[in-house]
Amino acid sequence: MSDADDQKRAAGEAAAALVEAGMVVGLGTGSTAAWFIRALAGRGLDVTCVCTSRVTGELAASLGLKLAGLGETGDIDLTVDGADEIGPGLSLIKGGGGALLREKLVWEASRRCVVIADAAKHVKKLGKFPLPIEVVAFGHATTALRICDALVESGLGVAPRLRTRDGEPVRTDGGNFIYDAACGAIEEPAALAAALKSVTGVVDHGLFLDLADQALIGAADGGVTTLEP
Ligand code: A5P
Repeated sequence: MSDADDQKRAAGEAAAALVEAGMVVGLGTGSTAAWFIRALAGRGLDVTCVCTSRVTGELAASLGLKLAGLGETGDIDLTVDGADEIGPGLSLIKGGGGALLREKLVWEASRRCVVIADAAKHVKKLGKFPLPIEVVAFGHATTALRICDALVESGLGVAPRLRTRDGEPVRTDGGNFIYDAACGAIEEPAALAAALKSVTGVVDHGLFLDLADQALIGAADGGVTTLEP
């Protein structure tokens, strides 16, 4: 296992220790969240889980976790999820795995959100990881032009790239497309988030601001560092 995988596993297992019997738990998406899900299943607690993607739902079901849809339970007590970047104040870029919309819906419905990651994800400034932007498929090229305008107005002269696989646009679980914007350095994440949300056709973006309550970051020495906003 690589160092990064060791760190993801340590963070996932530390997060699983936060779960108590009877909780409603939001399950994130990605390789780090998968470590959490496996560790949670291993604890054998009676919990109800709300998933952020089909892939996560399949993993959780295969491990025997009890599942419910978003809105079918009481409040979600705790959501645990990975991130592509963790910046100042626990601002995040998410969506590298394409699940950003369902992730944000579940995060926003949660009392507490914990982000888990390997140490390389912790950055001084957001933006090195290309920012995922989910758009409706209809008229997506036109929407991309409007996104360009919003990026330029935010001081970011970058052209977003349509995410493809095998030459075809990647579809999210909701059937939408994703554009990735290699911003470089995002000086004002809140302003950029607002500008992107104002573009018709943009469903959501991967900036998760003021949502994470805690970060658990696997360290090179095998420990886990806890960060608060
Ligand atoms: C999924 O859409 C993403 O938000 C993931 O949480 C993020 O890409 C982190 O993935 P890894 O844990 O696989 O690095």
